Amino acid sequence: SRRNMKFTFLIMGLHLISSLTWLIMSLIITHYKQYPPNVSKVYSYFECRRKRGGTQFSEIVFFGLQYLLKKYLSGRVITEEKIQEAKVFYQMHFRQTVFDEEGWRKVLEKYDGRLPIRIKAVPEGKIIPRGNVLFTVENTDPDFFWLTNYIETMLVQMWYPISVATISREFKKILAKHLKATSGSLEGLDFKLHDFGYRGVSSQESAALGGAAHLVNFCSTDTVAGLLMAQRYYGCPMAGFSMPAAEHSTIISWGRSREKEAFESMLDQFPTGPVSVVSDSYDIFKACRHIWGDKLKERVIERSEDSCLIIRPDSGDPAETLIEVIKILEECFGCSLNSQGFKVLPSYLRIIQGDGIDLNSVDEILEKLSDEGWSAENVFFGCGSALLQKLNRDTLNCAFKCSYVEINGKGMDVYKQPVTDPSKGSKRGLLSLRRNSDDFIETVERGVGKPEEDMLVIVFENGSIVQEYTLEEIRKNARLLEDYMAPSQHNQDEPKSLEPHQKHIMNGVH
Ligand SMILES: *[C@@H]1O[C@H](CO)[C@@H](O)[C@H](O)[C@H]1NC(C)=O
Ligand SMILES: *[C@@H]1O[C@H](CO)[C@@H](O)[C@H](O)[C@H]1NC(C)=O
Repeated sequence: SRRNMKFTFLIMGLHLISSLTWLIMSLIITHYKQYPPNVSKVYSYFECRRKRGGTQFSEIVFFGLQYLLKKYLSGRVITEEKIQEAKVFYQMHFRQTVFDEEGWRKVLEKYDGRLPIRIKAVPEGKIIPRGNVLFTVENTDPDFFWLTNYIETMLVQMWYPISVATISREFKKILAKHLKATSGSLEGLDFKLHDFGYRGVSSQESAALGGAAHLVNFCSTDTVAGLLMAQRYYGCPMAGFSMPAAEHSTIISWGRSREKEAFESMLDQFPTGPVSVVSDSYDIFKACRHIWGDKLKERVIERSEDSCLIIRPDSGDPAETLIEVIKILEECFGCSLNSQGFKVLPSYLRIIQGDGIDLNSVDEILEKLSDEGWSAENVFFGCGSALLQKLNRDTLNCAFKCSYVEINGKGMDVYKQPVTDPSKGSKRGLLSLRRNSDDFIETVERGVGKPEEDMLVIVFENGSIVQEYTLEEIRKNARLLEDYMAPSQHNQDEPKSLEPHQKHIMNGVH
């Protein structure tokens, strides 16, 4: 019934969002009056700006646009009722008449409420070096030049699924490196990082987007909202898996003197399949030595690889606690050596560390484990906040900027270049993305890119989604290649000084 309750809240959360009037989702309400006279096209783009000298997150995973398009932008999104509601709303909000009622009515009359906009984007799941164009937006009818940036607020929110998918994939690189080094294979990699973040995110919609973004890289989650998003918006019937897991309430409600009974009950209730039992309610070390390793030892040994007991420490220094726990388990249950000469607990016994996990600690823990001779096979990780919430739009410096306009039928490249921060400069002109002859992915500016080389695909035009991706395709695009297990050279170096004829190729470095 707790599951059911979660489900009910989820539906309520999503409902609240969809009942909000679409027209009230923008701050850009007065901009239509601010462009120069006779503008007929506004062309803007999204990128994760590259920071000079920054080395973290040098490549990003593009994910999440399809949800925004399906949910908010496709079909007949403008109606007379919405126009009336927005008119009243903004009259109250600005205390003057600034809402462009006439402009919106024209969308209704000319296009039956469908948006005359074209969006070109990198295929979802693609790995793109930071600092490149990821999608572009333009109006397809000169009357609606003001629409391009009207939808900015919504589109810039793409920072969130992109950042989560990118961070989740960085976890995967670290896990792959250690797993390969200490076991000789990548078996089980997709289950190494479990998403514990549902309760730690700011809203149901964030949970859905962030949870789905993690599922681009892994198959292990408790964030049910993400599974629903993968199902409803990315065509995946069941994108992730979980197991019965104890939490402190289900252990301590037995009373301090009956922790053994609480543990035993977990084994009774879930005799087959993996089961995870949080074991630090009182003393994790005593629990491992005296309960798991002694009183319930026979019950644990009875279990199989497919039904293993996964012990969960949940406090203390993650690396130190984990190493002490694994040593106690070795004393009680023994261990064997794998093909790489690293120690592995019996296959019916594993550990999951879900406390204090982030990109740094996971690397440190696995480093220390391998220093002590232990394979990464012995542990799973769970991550909440560091995966879904401890990030913001600056984590990847996400921005949406105008780079080209047409005035009186004449095109003009535009840009910003603030003297106070060159890294906030923007790209110029019509943009395309290509893989050059050195296999580097780069943005070609000023409209000189060849259409046949362009990696950007039209995904949305005049109210219709024209290209869709399934989670399966996205996962394939985001796959970890073997080269990532060694430090990658890919697009990490600043480009060598450019020949004059290459000056339009900026690759995010200005
Ligand atoms: C705008 O276009 C109109 C009609 O073509 C023209 O008469 C007018 O001079 C233009 N205004 C500006 C400021 O370019
Ligand atoms: C979208 O609308 C514009 C303006 O009406 C039109 O020129 C263009 O051909 C349309 N695109 C498609 C794919 O129908």
